[in-house]
Amino acid sequence: MTQSVSRRDFFKMGGGLAAGAGVAVVGITPGSAEAAVANTAATLPYKPRTIARLKTMKVNQPVAFNYPDAASPCQAVKMGEPVPGGAGPDGDVVAYSILCTHQGCPTVYDEKDRCFKCPCHYSIFDAEKGGQMVCGQAPAKLPQIVLEYDAKTDMIAAVAVNGLIYGRQANVL
Ligand code: FES
Repeated sequence: MTQSVSRRDFFKMGGGLAAGAGVAVVGITPGSAEAAVANTAATLPYKPRTIARLKTMKVNQPVAFNYPDAASPCQAVKMGEPVPGGAGPDGDVVAYSILCTHQGCPTVYDEKDRCFKCPCHYSIFDAEKGGQMVCGQAPAKLPQIVLEYDAKTDMIAAVAVNGLIYGRQANVL
């Protein structure tokens, strides 16, 4: 015996199945879902790492370092005037992961434009505006390295990363 199902009943059944599946997913792995959310946080705590003595930094001259690990090239720049996220007594020292957020090419700091420029597909990121993309194909700003200044030692240190470094699912290894 065949039984006909109306179009309306068909969609009702489909909706019920979808809802059931959703409950099942949430019900089976709540701990895993929470862990996944925690691992996608953009700003994560790291072990502080000293970058440079402030008095040795020259305005508009990038200082290279790696953070949070050896595979993550970064550059710090003393901009010479207060900028968003700027550290130090003048609030003018910023740092970024230099890996372009499009496809990971190392960007190059342009002293004239005070921007990081990508040689691969020409995205440009503004060092004075938190690494904001000025133009290009990149989907996000450059990750900004959170800096702290120790007045006693005159040292600038990296302490966190604000944004996802290219090629990673999280900034913690
Ligand atoms: S890798 Fe930088 S714009 Fe494509």
